[in-house]
Amino acid sequence: METEMTAVRCHTWGQPETLSVETLPLPQPGAAEVLLRVRAAGVNFPDTLIIQGKYQFRPELPFTPGSEVAGEVQQLGEGVTNVQVGDRVIAFLSTGGYATHAVAVAAQVLPMPPELSFEEAAAFTLASGTSYHALVDRAGLKAGETLLVLGAAGGVGLSAVQIGHALGARVIAAAGSDEKLAICRENGADETINYSSEDLRARIKELTGGKGPDVIYDPVGGALAEPAFRSIGWGGRYLVVGFAAGDIPSLPLNLPLLKGASLVGVFWGEFARRDPRGNARNLQTMIGWMKEGKMKLLVSGTYRLEGAAQALRDLEERKVTGKVVIVP
Ligand SMILES: NC(=O)c1ccc[n+]([C@@H]2O[C@H](COP(=O)([O-])OP(=O)(O)OC[C@H]3O[C@@H](n4cnc5c(N)ncnc54)[C@H](OP(=O)(O)O)[C@@H]3O)[C@@H](O)[C@H]2O)c1
Repeated sequence: METEMTAVRCHTWGQPETLSVETLPLPQPGAAEVLLRVRAAGVNFPDTLIIQGKYQFRPELPFTPGSEVAGEVQQLGEGVTNVQVGDRVIAFLSTGGYATHAVAVAAQVLPMPPELSFEEAAAFTLASGTSYHALVDRAGLKAGETLLVLGAAGGVGLSAVQIGHALGARVIAAAGSDEKLAICRENGADETINYSSEDLRARIKELTGGKGPDVIYDPVGGALAEPAFRSIGWGGRYLVVGFAAGDIPSLPLNLPLLKGASLVGVFWGEFARRDPRGNARNLQTMIGWMKEGKMKLLVSGTYRLEGAAQALRDLEERKVTGKVVIVP
């Protein structure tokens, strides 16, 4: 019987290189928990912040980073009835994903769609769940409307491109390199803007005939937010998704007034907690799209546990397209 597991550990707040890979005793699931054999763990931007102690919550040290995994149920805690040993599942954790095994709250475990690989399943829910919730529940994006996505080749950005395309919107992808924009086109973007080499406002104007996009999806923030907002169309919806650039931008409030536009906050984790059924419905819709071939997830890289620091470093250095995962 297995008695040990391998895990990435964070002992001090700091850069990815301070993480270590260690052997630990195999944890036991408590009541209403399950022990999972992790087959793949999604790497997300918040993981780069959490190890520096800069995220919305600070776990107690030492801890194992990683908030979404796909794997098999290995052991049930007392009172668990929603899954069985051997089931393939996706699980949300607060931490603990970058490991061979993880304990999850049984209520935070979903059956894994059979059409997805473990890698795709670990890359699916957080990014695609966020973008679907943003575009459909928060912005009410409709077929025929124009959607501008900033940071469009990143984890949540590329999923917004894919979902916007599946919903029948005209998608303008904006990113920092031509290589990234080529990937956006392969994933459903109709038009592209390279904001490292082109003037963002001038190109938005050109591509929308001066009208401006109906919906703007912004996971980057920083210096892009104000020029993007100034370009939004009448009655537009500006989705505040994240601040990958580091700076939280501020905006003069006359700008929404002048465009009859809305600034719309997006907090998928809280939405999924408050409305698990709504979230499950959203995920189910996308699984349907994947079956029909209307949506295909992009997992562009896999890393071993020993490569977790490199995965986080690649994310910080803007080298990643779509999603990357850790395969223990
Ligand atoms: N609101 C929510 O519910 C929610 C849910 C999930 C994620 N998020 C947030 O969304 C943001 C993106 O997450 P992600 O996992 O998609 O990250 P990601 O894959 O690293 O994508 C972020 C994109 O931002 C751009 N970027 C610009 N400046 C950057 C910088 N200094 N460092 C890193 N990237 C920079 C990069 O594109 P270019 O190189 O093309 O500019 C990159 O592709 C994060 O802030 C995350 O916390 C929010």
